[in-house]
Amino acid sequence: MLIVANWKMNGSISLLKECLKKWQSQPTDNTIVVCPPFPYLQCAQENSRFIKIGGQTCHDHEKGAYTGHVSVLHLKETGCTYGLVGHSERRLHDGETSEQVRKKASLLLDHGITPIICVGETLEQYEQEISEEVVKEQLQESIPPCAENIFIAYEPVWAIGTGKTATDIDIAQMHAFINNHFPSQGILYGGSVTAENAGRILKLPHVQGVLVGGASLKKDDFFQIIHS
Ligand code: PGA
Repeated sequence: MLIVANWKMNGSISLLKECLKKWQSQPTDNTIVVCPPFPYLQCAQENSRFIKIGGQTCHDHEKGAYTGHVSVLHLKETGCTYGLVGHSERRLHDGETSEQVRKKASLLLDHGITPIICVGETLEQYEQEISEEVVKEQLQESIPPCAENIFIAYEPVWAIGTGKTATDIDIAQMHAFINNHFPSQGILYGGSVTAENAGRILKLPHVQGVLVGGASLKKDDFFQIIHS
């Protein structure tokens, strides 16, 4: 299983050090990835023994005059082996399009970094019962052609940071749907994953891991998720 901590714009260096110490205090068969804010990537690299490091995004150009952005080359140099792309918060607040997501994912692949492509429907789309169409379109536009070695993270927008996890049936149905159309990709679930529900979600068919926001900032909760 792939268990990913997405810290978003939260946390501190001291919390990162404490968490890495605790999370690496016991071995696990799961692959654990931490995606801290960019300025902490080097600290994560210096303190990681078996935990992998991921970037929360990167620019869709390799380098250039893009003040404030971070390149795939910077991710690579600071030890990232995973990269999130297309998180719904970036699609919403930063206007990230599926076309950009595809370019970013291609760049990551070119540099040997595994992209985790995030997709998910809004509450309105869920209520209109068009979730599958929305997710399929996002994936068709976001996955680079012939891409291997990528993960898809299904994160219903209405479940992110809301405490409203999708039901087991919703998760199983969407994961089966995605698996049907993109059978060679691993699929993660994200959206209000907690220490309490992670074990159950990880047992659902076609769930190959979880992407965790809020609960990954709680040292003990995420430790429990790692060992679910
Ligand atoms: P959450 O966030 O676990 O806080 O809902 C998940 C995510 O945005 O990746």
